[in-house]
Amino acid sequence: EQIEKGGYEHFMLKEIYEQPQAIRDTFRGRMLVDQGLIKMAGIDDHIDKFLNARRILIVACGTSWHAGLVAEYIFEDLARIPVEVEYASEFRYRNPVIDKDDILIAISQSGETADTMAAIKMAKDKGAFVFGVCNVVGSSISREAHAGAYTHAGPEIGVASTKAFTTQITVLTLIALQLAKKKGKISTSDFHRYLQELDAIPEKVEKALSSNDHIEKIAAIYKDAPNCLYLGRGFNFPVALEGALKLKEISYIHAEGYPAAEMKHGPIALIDEQMPVVVIATRKGHYEKVVSNIQEIKSRSGKIIGIVTEGDVDVHDLADHVIEVPDTIEFMTPLLTTIPLQLLSYHIAVMLGKNVDQPRNLAKSVTVE
Ligand code: G6P
Repeated sequence: EQIEKGGYEHFMLKEIYEQPQAIRDTFRGRMLVDQGLIKMAGIDDHIDKFLNARRILIVACGTSWHAGLVAEYIFEDLARIPVEVEYASEFRYRNPVIDKDDILIAISQSGETADTMAAIKMAKDKGAFVFGVCNVVGSSISREAHAGAYTHAGPEIGVASTKAFTTQITVLTLIALQLAKKKGKISTSDFHRYLQELDAIPEKVEKALSSNDHIEKIAAIYKDAPNCLYLGRGFNFPVALEGALKLKEISYIHAEGYPAAEMKHGPIALIDEQMPVVVIATRKGHYEKVVSNIQEIKSRSGKIIGIVTEGDVDVHDLADHVIEVPDTIEFMTPLLTTIPLQLLSYHIAVMLGKNVDQPRNLAKSVTVE
């Protein structure tokens, strides 16, 4: 096992560090930057279905569901296709409206999750076209789907999902870009610019990973907090949910993710000088609004850990700590902002002496409902 961990103390840390390469592997053969092309057989062979779809329904569980939420924002923004995201466990039992004009995208690292599989079967029965996004090659879901795309993240051993999440987002981003182009929703020059930027993401993930020592110090300060709040907006709202899930899963600290603007409708009541609040505040989209959310936390003496764009000034002045990530195009920021949140929960769990790779009560793949 020590050999499999490749010199890392835990599989989770190894897998966090594998992300630059995992994302490159996900691109391989699909993103041809010089030619300005995306090639994905699973999409290209069924392009009419995608172009004529009334809407896309995404079903998944756990971390994969969070990747689905990020995809919803990206698909709607770039390709202008209506998207709904649902927990597979809810979808399968609620008599949903779905038919042959819909596409169901099922996201699953293991490709074995029972609820996700049941959702697929139901959607197929109702005539929908089912597309699988799986990591494990040859898995049940990848075989059951009409078509699909593998994430190519390599084996993920840690129960808390890390590289599967970022590669799911990568695949879904490629799909969104391909559909946006084929639907004529983005210009050729933007398409090229996006491919070039996506190509630079693995290097930027490496840069984000270089904050590890700084993050470890922040973890030491907050490891004994009983609660933690995670806030983000837009593309980074699902990242806040995922950050909170990571902390819960491996450190057993109660954590909640919220859209930053919803804070005033409840979570703000929780804020006092004991409460660490992780705020994703990259200098994009809703930056000013997030800064004003940070001011609201500060005026209630909450402890602020800001995830910011390199060179940020405003959040620096307000927050107790900042963790920088490289600048990128707004819809690609989740691929970078996720990294410090993974490392923060990892270090907290290690400091608390928890079993990081195999947290209590959790399983890597849940094959029962
Ligand atoms: C379990 C795992 C999670 C995972 C979820 C969905 O709860 O512990 O890490 O996100 O299942 O798994 P899947 O394999 O379908 O992505």
